[in-house]
Parts: sequence; structure tokens; C-alpha cells
Amino acid sequence: MRRVASGFSPVITLDRRNGKPLHKQVYEAFCAAIVRRNLRAGQKVPSSRSLAAELKISRIPVLTAYSQLHAEGYFETRSGSGTFVSSSLPDQWISMERRHAPSPQVRSPRRLLSKRSALIPLFKPVPWLNKWGAFIVGQLAFEHFPFQVWASLVNRHVRNVRVNSLHYSDPMGSESFRSAIAEYLRTTRAVNCEASQIMIVSGTQQALELTARVLFDPGDKIWLEEPGYRLARNAFSLAGCRLIPVPVDEEGIDVAAGIARSRRARAAFVTPSHQFPLGVTMSASRRFQLLDWAHRSASWIVEDDYDNEYRYESMPIASLQGLDRHSRVIYIGTFSKTLFPSLRLGYVVIPPDLVQQFLAVRNAMDVYPPHLYQAVLEDFISEGHFARHIRRTRLLYSERRNVLVGAIRNEFGSSMEVLGEGAGVHLVATLSKGLSDRSISDQAALQDLWLWPLSTCYLDRPSRQGFILGFGSTTPRQIPNAVRRLREVVDSQ
Ligand SMILES: Cc1ncc(COP(=O)(O)O)c(C=O)c1O
Repeated sequence: MRRVASGFSPVITLDRRNGKPLHKQVYEAFCAAIVRRNLRAGQKVPSSRSLAAELKISRIPVLTAYSQLHAEGYFETRSGSGTFVSSSLPDQWISMERRHAPSPQVRSPRRLLSKRSALIPLFKPVPWLNKWGAFIVGQLAFEHFPFQVWASLVNRHVRNVRVNSLHYSDPMGSESFRSAIAEYLRTTRAVNCEASQIMIVSGTQQALELTARVLFDPGDKIWLEEPGYRLARNAFSLAGCRLIPVPVDEEGIDVAAGIARSRRARAAFVTPSHQFPLGVTMSASRRFQLLDWAHRSASWIVEDDYDNEYRYESMPIASLQGLDRHSRVIYIGTFSKTLFPSLRLGYVVIPPDLVQQFLAVRNAMDVYPPHLYQAVLEDFISEGHFARHIRRTRLLYSERRNVLVGAIRNEFGSSMEVLGEGAGVHLVATLSKGLSDRSISDQAALQDLWLWPLSTCYLDRPSRQGFILGFGSTTPRQIPNAVRRLREVVDSQ
């Protein structure tokens, strides 16, 4: 049987005492909804039977109103599909009515917003993150994702719904899923954790927001890696924190510089396994310096371990959290880089004594995480698909990385330095002095090359110009040609 979508009813308030016939009131309610554009051309309207039932009136006034609306061209019938707002509406009537409608542009000066909302820039989609094609950061080899396996697991959980998976549940997330993650983190990342410390969140961003709400007050100073991760900057700014940019060198964040700028900062946000964006791995001595500073000054460390699964030459680097003897590290991980970002699943490993505070704040935010994909991903991990997918994509990305580094060397020789290519799914290519990454990025966009300008990652004046180049979704066949086009754009400057 063909399924026919059912339409929603507009707001219709019937008044039986005003003497106006019911069919007239129904007719006028539809006309008003159409001219105000609350009902749009082509939108389905409810059947006369269901509208009559909803309004608790007989079907006759609804049929009379519908036939009038048909006759005047407001409604049309599509055989077998039902009744729709006409796709050829009487325009002149709508525009005339609209002239009398209040303007949606409200000019009143007193539209007060929170001061907090002005602490971050307005959202603007940037081409180097939102298009499809060469060098987009965050895009992965989705064509190699085992969607058949994934679909069968989704089906399994959709077909066998358990009643307790539909009800309100634990703000930490599903316990068995958290156990699977704890096992994974202890084994592969040397994270010191139990399932009871793991909170499931909708990705790194929610983890940062939650952490900021639990740990920071407006005015608190936070060290941020310079250059660093823009969305972490926004999460802490929104909490009213004062951002202290701390330079990154070849050993990671410069702890001595951080202490010189703000010894008593409340926290440091770091990406020690693969610094974003420069790709440096934090040295052992910096890790101990950072942990020591946090311990002595009663500060927190927020560790974002976003793409640790992809490391090409050396063995995986253990987490900073695993070295911490004083429970000062909040460890954050995500499935955005290993699976796909629209999954919106990540986790926070919380020091045991803070779990109750995180629980209370999380409960006040979005109550608890949705169930379905936690269950699917738990099976994906426990049945071995996750480990297999990482092994396969590590080889794939390693090849893409090699081809990209080779192509950059071929086209640019020593005029472009490559940084951070040892791990992850992006690298940084720096530009010679005097060139502007923003203007090259704008030019390159005309050639379908999506280059994230390095200068946008600085809080202070950028000390380097260059690009963050994603290689997750660009195939080895496409890379040489894309790099050649990039060189042509750079040469034209
Ligand atoms: C530094 C860093 N952290 C975390 C993430 C992942 O964020 P999310 O889990 O919110 O998708 C990214 C994604 O590009 C990133 O660059």
C-alpha cells in the first residue's frame, strides 16, 4: 500500500457563540494561515475527516470550507495523495495582505540579549569546513566506512526495542557502552579510568561546554595553545573565561611561558597527542612540567585527545591523563575522527571526586544522551568492527599522507614546510614570508581547493601563515593534481 503523509492542522479556534457558521470559520482560518505564510505552497493539509475529528465537529462544515478553498484556488488535490495548499496561489492577494501584516524586522531598540552571547563571534559558515573536495579538514574516507555492518546493527536495535531504552535514563550514558569505552581507553591510551568516570556526550564540544560550566567562573583565566582550536576558544569564552594564549613550540605548549603569563590560571586546554593545528606531540618533559604546574597551582588540565588513533610512524602516545597522579586532568575523546562527525558521540573521563558535580550540571543541560547510537556503537566496538575499521583506515590515511607530503615536496621544494604529518588526518603546510594565507585561500576556493588558513587559529597576531590541509577524503589519485593547482594559486600571488 502506498503511504501518504498526513498533514498538520493549522491553528483554528472555533467560536460557537459569535454566530458565524463553522464552515466560514474553518475557511477563514485556512485563508489567514496561507496569507501569513504559516501554511506554504505545496504543503499538505489534513484530510477533512481527520480535521473534523480534531476540531470535534461534523465533517460537513469542513467539507464545505475545503470546497470553497478549492474553488478559490487555495487548495489543490493530487490524486491518491490528498489535499495540498495550491502551488499557484493568488499572489496579488497574499502580497496585499502582507502589506498589512506586521514587519518581521522589529526595529525596537530594546531587544536585550545576554552579555554572554556577545562574547563569541556570530556564526558564519566558512568554506574550508563546509564544502566537499580537496583538503577539507574533518572529512574522512566515508566510502570505506562499513555501512552495511553499521546498518545491520542499527536495524538490530531498532527492531528489538527494549522498553527501558525508551525511558529517561542515566545522565552518564549507558553503563555497558561506558564499560566498552573504558576498556578501549585503558588499553590503547593508558587512560586511568573506570566506567563510572565516563560520561557520554554529543562530541568534544559538549564536553568542553560541560567542563566549563562545572569548573570555571566568569573571569577565570585559561591557557590556550597558540595557535589552537577555535571551538575550544568559543566554549571557554562563552563561559566568560579570560583566554591566555600560550605559544606552542616543537615540544608542545610552552609551560614556562604560560607560568610567566598567568601562573594562577584556572586551567590549561591542550591537545598533547597531536597539537591542533601544528601537529606537535607534547614531549615527556613538558607533560611532567604541565602536570606539576597544575598540581602546585590547583589548576585543571583539559586534555582533548581527538585523533590519537591515527599515528603513522611511532607507537601510539599514552595519554597525559594516564601520567597524572593528582586527578587534575579532564580527558575528552570523540568518535568524530574515527567514525563520522554527524554521529555526535564523544566522552569525558571525569576525576572520580567530580563525577557528582558533572552529573548535576549535565542533568540540567540535556538530561542524558540519546540511547540508540550508544547501543549500536557498543556492539560495533565489542564485535571488533571498530578496531578493524581503525586498522584499515590507518593504512589508507597513511598512504594519502605520504602522497600529499611527496606532492608538496615536488611542487614547492623547500619553499613550503610541512608540519605535524606524523599523526591524524590533517597536516600543516606553511607559506614563505610575505604571503597571506587568507587571500590564497580565497583564490583557491575558486578552484575547488578548500584551504583552512593557519592565521585564523591564532588569538594574537599570527606568527605564521600557512594552511591546514585535510587528507582524509582526498584520494591518492586526486592529491597530485590538487597540489599542482595549489602551487599555481600560490605562484599567482
Ligand atoms: C582539536 C579538535 N578537537 C575535537 C574535534 C572534534 O570535535 P567534535 O567531537 O565536537 O566533533 C576536532 C574536530 O575537528 C578538533 O579539531
